[in-house]
Amino acid sequence: MSSSRGKFITLEGVEGVGKSTCIEVIKSVLEAAGKSVVISREPGGTSVGERLREIFLDEGEVRMTAHAELLLIFAARTQHVHELIAPALAAGAWVVCDRFTDSTYAYQGAGRQLPEEEIARIEDIALGSFQPDLTLLLDLDAREGLERAVSDAEADRLESEQDEFFERVRNAFLQRSRQMAHKDRYRLVDASRPQDQVHSQIREIIKHFLNQTAEGKKR
Ligand SMILES: Nc1ncnc2c1ncn2[C@@H]1O[C@H](COP(=O)(O)OP(=O)(O)OP(=O)(O)O)[C@@H](O)[C@H]1O
Ligand SMILES: [Mg+2]
Repeated sequence: MSSSRGKFITLEGVEGVGKSTCIEVIKSVLEAAGKSVVISREPGGTSVGERLREIFLDEGEVRMTAHAELLLIFAARTQHVHELIAPALAAGAWVVCDRFTDSTYAYQGAGRQLPEEEIARIEDIALGSFQPDLTLLLDLDAREGLERAVSDAEADRLESEQDEFFERVRNAFLQRSRQMAHKDRYRLVDASRPQDQVHSQIREIIKHFLNQTAEGKKR
C-alpha cells in the first residue's frame, strides 16, 4: 500500500440527486488509477454509527428535538472519523463518503434552522479542523430529487418533510459551496442531466483531481 496519505472525497446533495449511484463511478476511476478505495456513508459507517443511523432515520422518532438530532449525528461522525476514515487515510487508502458535515449544515442548519455557530461549535469538538479534500455537490431541484428517491424506496422520516424544507436545504448546499473557507474543495455537478452525462462529468472531475494530487506531490 502507498505510504502517502489518501484523500477524503465526499458526495453531497438532497435526496435522490444520485449520490449513491455515483459512488461506483468514483470507485472505478480511482481503482483504475491504482488507489485502494474505502466506501462509506453517513450517518453510519461504523457499528456504533449504523445503530445511531437507525434511531436517526426511524419514522417513529418524530419527537426528537433538533439539538438531539444534531448531537446524535456528530456522535456518529466523530466515531466514523476516528474509527474508520482517519486510519484508512493514514494507511494510504482513498475514502469516498456518501454525505458528511456539509449535510449537517444543510439539514440541521438551514432545514431545521439551528444557528450555524452552534453547529460549528459541536463540529469543532467532534472533528477539530478535519474536512474533506474534495466534495462533489450534486445539484438538482429538490422536488425532482424527491420524486426520484420516493419512486426508489419508501419515504423515511426526513423525506416526509415539506418541499420548502428541501428548498432551504438545496440552497444551503449551494451557499456553502461558495463560501471562502470551503469553495476550493467543492465541485458543482448539474444533476438534472441524464445519468450518463452526470457520470462522465464525475469521471472528469476525479481524473482532474488525481492529476492535481500527483502534481502537488512532484513539487
Ligand atoms: N441523472 C439522473 N437522471 C435520472 N434518474 C437518476 C439520475 N441519477 C440517479 N437517478 C435515479 O434516481 C434514484 C435516486 O438515485 P440515488 O439513490 O443514487 O440518489 P441519492 O442521492 O443517493 O439519494 P438518497 O439521498 O435518498 O440516498 C435512483 O433510482 C437512480 O437510478
Ligand atoms: Mg443514497
